[in-house]
Amino acid sequence: MSTRVRILFALALSVIMFTPPAHAQTAVLDAEGHTWWQHAVFYEIYPRSFADSDNNGIGDLNGITSKLDYLKKLGVDAIWITPFFPSPQVDFGYDVSDYEAIDPMYGTMADFDHLAAESKKRDVRLILDFVVNHTSDRHKWFIDSKSSRTSPHRDWYIWRDGKSERQPPNNWTSTFGLSAWKYDPTTKQYYYHYFYPEQPDLNWRNPAVEKAMFDTTRFWYQRGVSGFRLDAVDTMYEDPGLKDNPPAPGIDKFGRPNTQEKYNKKLPEIHGALQRLRKVADEYNAVLIGETWTTDVSQLKEYYGSNNNELQLPMDLLLNGLPFSANVYRKHIAAMDSAGGWPVYVITNHDITRSYTRYADGKHNDEIAKLMAAFYLTLRGTAIMYYGEELGMENNDPETRDQVQDPVGKLSWPKDKGRDGERTPMQWTSGTNAGFTTGKPWLPVPASAGTHNVASEEKDANSILSVYRHLLQMRHTEPALIEGDYISVNNDDSNVYAYMRRYKNEAMLVVLNFSNAKRTVKFDLAPQGFASAKAAKTLSSSASESGGTTIALEPFGFYIEKLTK
Ligand code: NOJ
Repeated sequence: MSTRVRILFALALSVIMFTPPAHAQTAVLDAEGHTWWQHAVFYEIYPRSFADSDNNGIGDLNGITSKLDYLKKLGVDAIWITPFFPSPQVDFGYDVSDYEAIDPMYGTMADFDHLAAESKKRDVRLILDFVVNHTSDRHKWFIDSKSSRTSPHRDWYIWRDGKSERQPPNNWTSTFGLSAWKYDPTTKQYYYHYFYPEQPDLNWRNPAVEKAMFDTTRFWYQRGVSGFRLDAVDTMYEDPGLKDNPPAPGIDKFGRPNTQEKYNKKLPEIHGALQRLRKVADEYNAVLIGETWTTDVSQLKEYYGSNNNELQLPMDLLLNGLPFSANVYRKHIAAMDSAGGWPVYVITNHDITRSYTRYADGKHNDEIAKLMAAFYLTLRGTAIMYYGEELGMENNDPETRDQVQDPVGKLSWPKDKGRDGERTPMQWTSGTNAGFTTGKPWLPVPASAGTHNVASEEKDANSILSVYRHLLQMRHTEPALIEGDYISVNNDDSNVYAYMRRYKNEAMLVVLNFSNAKRTVKFDLAPQGFASAKAAKTLSSSASESGGTTIALEPFGFYIEKLTK
C-alpha cells in the first residue's frame, strides 16, 4: 500500500470509528455547566385522565397532543406520560404486555409519532415510563416462560419450588397484598411477583433480560424520546438464595405481620444495572428519572451513583411524607441541597393523595396550594409537577368499595381507598365532566371542578393556575432562580421559612409563611452581601405593601422579591 493510500485508508477508518450513531446527541451545557434537564420543568400526565379525544371516557395520545399549547403556555419543558403500552390494565398500564407498541385504547404508533413531532415543534420533550421490575403475565416472554420448565424464557422470571407442597419458597409478601408467590399448576413451581400476581418480576440476573430491556429504551430514543422515568427501581433484584425476610413490629394495611424487606428490595446489584442503563441513555443525551422511595436523604443519594453515573434525577419522594412545617422543610431542603446530587422535587403523583388535599386546612386551601408551589418551584433543582396540581385539583376518593377501580383499594378497603382519588379526569372547564369527555369518564370528577378548572382560572389573575404560570415563567427567566445557590435565612423562625437564591449580583428572596396567622419578618442580608440591595417585588400571594427588608405576610402567604446589588 502506498503512503497516500495508507493515509486515505486510515482517514476513512477514523471516520467510520468516530462517527456518532445517527441519533446520538451531545449535551449542551450552559455557563454553569448545567444541561437541559436541570432547568426543565417536568409534568406528569396520567394518559387515562388527561384529555379524551374520542369521547370514550378514557384519555388518549391525541388528547395529549391537543393540549400541548396549554402545557407550553403553562411553562412545561417535558412531559412524562405514564404507561400507554399494550396492557391488560390490571394495574392501569403498569402491567405491560409489549414494551414497543401502543395500547389501542390510547391510539396508534402514528398517533405517538404525531405527538412526538408536535411536542418537538414546541420544544417540549417526551419522557416515557419504563416498567423495569415486572411485565404483565400476558407478555409473550411470560407466556413462554410459563409454558414449560425448559422453555427459552423460563429463566427470564423468578421460578422456584415451594418449601414443601402448598408452601411458597419463602415469606416474602406482595406490596399489593397477600403472598409474593403464585403457584403454577402446569409446571408445578411458584413465580415471584412483588406487585399483583399479574405482574411477574423479571429476572435481571439473566443477561438476556437486561439486553432486551435496554434495547427497548433504544427503540424509543430512536423515536424521539428524551428519557425515562424508571418504575419501582428498588425492587429490580432479589437475593438469589431467597432467604426469608426478618420480622418487623406491627401489622400492615392488609392485616399481615410486617417484615423488613431485606432480601427483595434495594439490593446492591441495582446500581450496576443502573450504571449500564445510564451508558445507553448517555448515547442519546437522555435523562433517567427514578421512582426512588427511600427512608432518608443519604439512601436517596446512592441512586445518583458514586460518580454521578446512575440516575440523573432520583425523585425526592420523602418531601411528600413530611409534616407541613417551616422547620421540617428547612431541615429537609438543607439536607437535599448539600447531598451532592441535583435535587428533584415532587409534591404529588398518581400513587399518593394529591397535595391540595394533603395540605388543606379547610379554610385556606387555595392559599396553601399557592404557598407549596412558591416553595418547591423556587428551589435549586428540577421540579416534577402532576397534572391538575396547577389548578388545585383535589382527591376524589370512592365512597363505597364497589366504586373502587384500583385493585389495591379493593384489597385494603376501608383502611386504604386505593389510588383512584388522585387519578380523576383533568379539569378543563366548569361544564359536564369538567370538559374531559362527552362520554362517561372512567372516574368521576369532584364538585370542586366547578371552580378549579382551566377555563375559569385562566380568567382570574389570582388563581392557583395564574400563580403557577407566573412562577414557571420566573423559573425560566430569572438568572438567580435558574443558576443561583440556595441559602436559608432567618433560621430560627419556626413559622416563616425564607431563603435566597443568589447568583452574581442578584438574588431572589423567597419568604413563605407556613402558619395560619399574619406574620411580619425582618431580614438582615448583610452576611449574604445584600445589605443595601435594591428590592423589587416579583410575586406575592397578598396585596400587602411590604418590601425591602421588612415583609408582612397573610396567613399561609408568600412573598418573592428580587434583590440587585
Ligand atoms: C409504581 C407505579 O407508580 C404504580 O402506579 C404501580 O402500581 C407500581 N409501581 C407497580 O408498577
